Amino acid sequence: MSQTDSWGSRVGLILAMAGNAVGLGNFLRFPVQAIQNGGGAFIIPYLVCFLLMGIPLLWVEWAMGRFGGRKGNHSTPFILHEMDPKRALWKYIGVFGIFTNIAVAAYYCYLESWTLSYVWHSIAGSFNGQSAEQVAAFFGDYININTSTTGIPFEPIVFWLICLFLNTWILAQGLSGGVEKVAKIGMPLLIIFGIVLAVMGVTLKAGHHGAVNDGTMGLNFLWTPDYSSIWSAKVWLAAAGQIFFTLSVGMGSIQCYASYVKKKDDIALNAMSAGWMNEFVEVVLGASIIIPISIGYLGIEKVVELTQTGGLGLGFKTLPYLFTQWGPTLGMIAGVCWFGLLFFAGITSSLAMGTPVMGFLENEFGWKRKPAAWFFGIIVLVLGLPTVLYFNEGVFDEYDYWAGTVGLVVFALAEIILFAWVFGMDKGWKEITTGADIQVPLAYRFIIKFVTPLFIGGVFFASLPGIWEKITATGLPWQVHGARALLLLMFLTISWFVRVAYLKRLAKLKHSKA
Ligand code: PHE
Repeated sequence: MSQTDSWGSRVGLILAMAGNAVGLGNFLRFPVQAIQNGGGAFIIPYLVCFLLMGIPLLWVEWAMGRFGGRKGNHSTPFILHEMDPKRALWKYIGVFGIFTNIAVAAYYCYLESWTLSYVWHSIAGSFNGQSAEQVAAFFGDYININTSTTGIPFEPIVFWLICLFLNTWILAQGLSGGVEKVAKIGMPLLIIFGIVLAVMGVTLKAGHHGAVNDGTMGLNFLWTPDYSSIWSAKVWLAAAGQIFFTLSVGMGSIQCYASYVKKKDDIALNAMSAGWMNEFVEVVLGASIIIPISIGYLGIEKVVELTQTGGLGLGFKTLPYLFTQWGPTLGMIAGVCWFGLLFFAGITSSLAMGTPVMGFLENEFGWKRKPAAWFFGIIVLVLGLPTVLYFNEGVFDEYDYWAGTVGLVVFALAEIILFAWVFGMDKGWKEITTGADIQVPLAYRFIIKFVTPLFIGGVFFASLPGIWEKITATGLPWQVHGARALLLLMFLTISWFVRVAYLKRLAKLKHSKA
């Protein structure tokens, strides 16, 4: 994403931003979080988190991005630096905005590659005639590299490489030539596939195609509010974590995308369009597929039990079997829709994860777009390999925890303090409202200044005991220790590069003054 790169059109920008947000999190993570946290008990904290944390952070991050881009900065270390040039600290906080994207991409692309493989298996009819146990075992077999007998030799690695290559290649085509085009094709298809599946899920009838409950049973489970959770810290933490992950806030990718918006272009309405589109896809489509179908076949208790031992399985171990109950043709259509939708959701998100590091290399070290894209591809390959080889040892979850959960909260807390208190709300509000095509509710000036920082601070402090527990846990396999060391090393390496870039900037400044 070079200095001169920009978005082709407003629709393209909104779809790319929505594609960034709409991801595997909407279809796999949200339903599982909802099920694990009591269905109706989850939804109220979730919506409150969206209004008081998600929306404010969207505006703040878009505003930061456009502000930074105006001065030619396309990644968070120097966007943050420009907002408070006097303090050295911010550019190192900004390291999160590159680090988290790479670390999440490292495991996310692997997950994305499963969806591609499962599209293929749905077309090939691999699951037809298999028992529930066999379909579940197929997945276990798939991710176990050494014994994988699912068809192609080293199948998970092959699909993973294809997936990485695709991501890198699209990134190398630039924003309007690559990312935007994929979003314009992928997002509408995803929504169509989602609607097809949601209709199939919701209209499921007990006694038909082997279902034991109506599809509406799952919907009631989710949409009957249960106020008992208001006092449960666990449910609130899960809801906040989901809002962060699904909106891609606290990541650095929104700032990067927004830094390519033109100076006076609207961000207030654009941010809302992308954000609300994400919520539509999550709480309407995302909630109407896995939950009604799995509960329709298995009942609430069994589904809750299934998600207790790791939620990912539901989408890959259970759903393909349930689809076969609909007969070979309808089953195949459902399989292609489901895994195809997951693939489009995944790729439009992983592309967003690639852009911050590319922007950084191009801005600070004069790299061209193509080598920068390949560099990202290679890092994800190296860092992702442990998640592929040691998935069962917990490396995947380890990355998800430190980068995809803790990293987001830490970075969001720092950036909201910087925006509302250091940069200041007078300037901040102006940044948000300049060029705005909507009237931003004045209440949000107060919310951004007080409520959101306190809210995120609360989430941060409430997560400390859990973090401590993780750090002091004993008996972990060496692979998990290795994963932690690798993540730490990456964070330090990026920080070092930021320092080098900073010194280069200083030298240039001196030179131009002399
Ligand atoms: N929001 C994406 C999802 O729901 C994940 C994501 C995180 C995308 C960070 C981009 C950057 O799956």
